[in-house]
Formats: sequence, structure tokens, C-alpha cells
Amino acid sequence: MKNNCKTKSIIFVLLITIALFLCACERNQPTETPGAASEQTGQTEQPGQPEQTGQPGQTGQPGQTGQPVQTGQPGQPGQPGQPGQPGQTEQPGQPDKGVTEPKQSLSFLFFSDTQADPETGDYSGFGEVLTLALSRYANPDLIIFGGDTINDGGNADEWREFWEASAPLSGLTTAAAPGNHDAHLLAEQFDYPAKAPANQGEGYFYSFNRGPVHFIMLDSNIMGAANDKEIQWLRMDLESDAAGQASWRVAVMHHPMWPVTENPKDAARAATMREHFLPLMEEYGVDLILCGHQHVYARSVPMSGDKVVSGGAIVQIMAASGGKGSYVAGSWEYISAIAAAPNYLHITADDETLTVAACDGSAEPFDTFAITR
Ligand SMILES: [Fe+2]
Repeated sequence: MKNNCKTKSIIFVLLITIALFLCACERNQPTETPGAASEQTGQTEQPGQPEQTGQPGQTGQPGQTGQPVQTGQPGQPGQPGQPGQPGQTEQPGQPDKGVTEPKQSLSFLFFSDTQADPETGDYSGFGEVLTLALSRYANPDLIIFGGDTINDGGNADEWREFWEASAPLSGLTTAAAPGNHDAHLLAEQFDYPAKAPANQGEGYFYSFNRGPVHFIMLDSNIMGAANDKEIQWLRMDLESDAAGQASWRVAVMHHPMWPVTENPKDAARAATMREHFLPLMEEYGVDLILCGHQHVYARSVPMSGDKVVSGGAIVQIMAASGGKGSYVAGSWEYISAIAAAPNYLHITADDETLTVAACDGSAEPFDTFAITR
């Protein structure tokens, strides 16, 4: 009997213990198991991927190997050579891509055939054109002359008369291509070609860069004879880094590649220039030809050889700025715009656009033209 009571006591204690344990378990419900919540929201975390909070330098970006981003962090402009290194993906909008070179730009004026009427020797006509141009387009970076600046380039007295009428040019940078009236004194009159290398022998052909433009100043007096030295120089120049790295290549020559007046001598010269010089200009991407000689304003449509083409070809613009009067242009399919002298061009260029405004004494340009990259 005594043993029976003892057994009942042990069973009672066990029941009490079990009851207390069950109560304790019930107080701890519900208990989440790892992953349960994620499964409910469809946002299962992947092993090894930390949260992406959008903070700079976070790991876990596409293409990264878990190393901190070295480039483009705030206050750390991109270091040369760092972008694109293994394990480092460039981030959109980071400074190493946001830094851009300042845009190059250039504003210049083009005059040609500024010579006086030989009957009067009076340069006041060009003086008026020049004054008008500089009042409309103040402080140009450069002044380009397309040749036949005066009637007798070997006459120092006539040069003096020209410069007296051209007093507004004081302080401006000037460059000239030689015309058929210009002579050896040309190189003493302008900033270029006087500063050009002196070892080129015959012919004033030279080049220089200003802003985004590579200027190729050719001597069309000898181009008409297919001068081999000038042809070789032109190829060398167009292959140079100076030409290749410029946004624009502008060739300046006195005689036109595509004449607009009826003149057999000019036509023969132009045919020779198209045969020997034009292929090089097309091969190396000359954009524009500026010329004179025929005493009218004439803008061609895009040309390739003897053909009118559309897009990507060379446009020729002829200007005449002096007091010698206008010649009569013929009827040519490649003439897109034409006007009487005197006139001049204002040209602006940046890395994307080259614009031409052809002006006379009118309030607004009478012709405009643009090339856009
Ligand atoms: Fe001429």
C-alpha cells in the first residue's frame, strides 16, 4: 500500500512537470523559422549578396567581385586608367564620365580679292567692307584672305595703301593664301605665311590649327601645273595629327576648284586641281573650300569630282570683297547660291557645327550655310 501511494506521487509530479512545459511552449508561439517571412513576400535573399542600399561603394553591383568601387566616388574624380579595371564597373553619371573638355570654338572672317580698282587705286571700298564686317562681328579670332589682296603684290607702296585702308585689322591675326596678283612680298604682310616654315621652296602652301579647325592654305598658282611638291606636301599634311585631330579641315586657295565664270584658263586650271588635289581632300575629309578669283559670291552644292552629290562631299564657297567690281557668273548646275561683289564671310566653328554667313552691306546675311556632325 505504501509503495502504491509512492508510485501515484511520482506520476502526479511527472504530470505537473509536463503541464508546466506545455504552458511554456505555448507562450513562445508564433516562432518564425529562417526564410519563412521572405517566402511570404517573394523576396528571398540570395546567399552572399548584401543588401543594396544605393550607397556609393556598396558591393554586390553587377560585374563586381565584391571589391569596393574605386572610381567615381564622391570627391574622387576618376583617375586615368582606373575605369574598366577588372572588378570595377563604371557607374552611370560618375565624375570620370561626366568630365568633358571645354568646347572649342572659333570665329573668323574671310575676305578675298580685296584689291582696289586699278583705275583709281582706291582701297576705301575694301576699307568700308572691313569696317562693316568688324562692326557686325567684333573681335574675330582670325582674318583669312583668299588672295589677290592688292593688284601688284611686288609694289610696297600699294601694300602701304592697302594697310592704311585696313587699319581696323590692327591687333588681329591674319593669314593669306596667294593669288595671281600677289607676289613675294605677301609673306611680309600677314601673320601667316610669314610665320610659316621658310624651307618650302616655291609656293606659299602651309597649314595651321586654330580652335577646332585645321586650315590648309594652298598655292593655286602652282596647283594648276600639278606641282608635285605641293601634292606631296598636301598628303603629308592631311596625314598629320594636326589635321586628323581637328574637328574641321578647311582648305583655302585663290582659284576655284569649280569655276563659276566662263573662262577657259580657269576651267583648265580647275580640271587639273580636281584631278590631282581633290582626291586627297576627299580621302582625308576636307569639309570646305574657300576661294576667290572670279569676283562674285558663289556657294556650290556638295561636290565630288565633276559630279554634284548629296551629303558628305566638299562645298566650295567663293567670295569677293574689293572694289574691282563683279564678274558675270555662268549657269552651272553646281551653284547653290550666287551674289554680286563686294561680300565677305563670317564663319563660326565648334566641335559639332560649322556655320557660314555670307554678308554684304545689308542688315542681314544674304546666304547662310551650315555643316553639322
Ligand atoms: Fe585672281
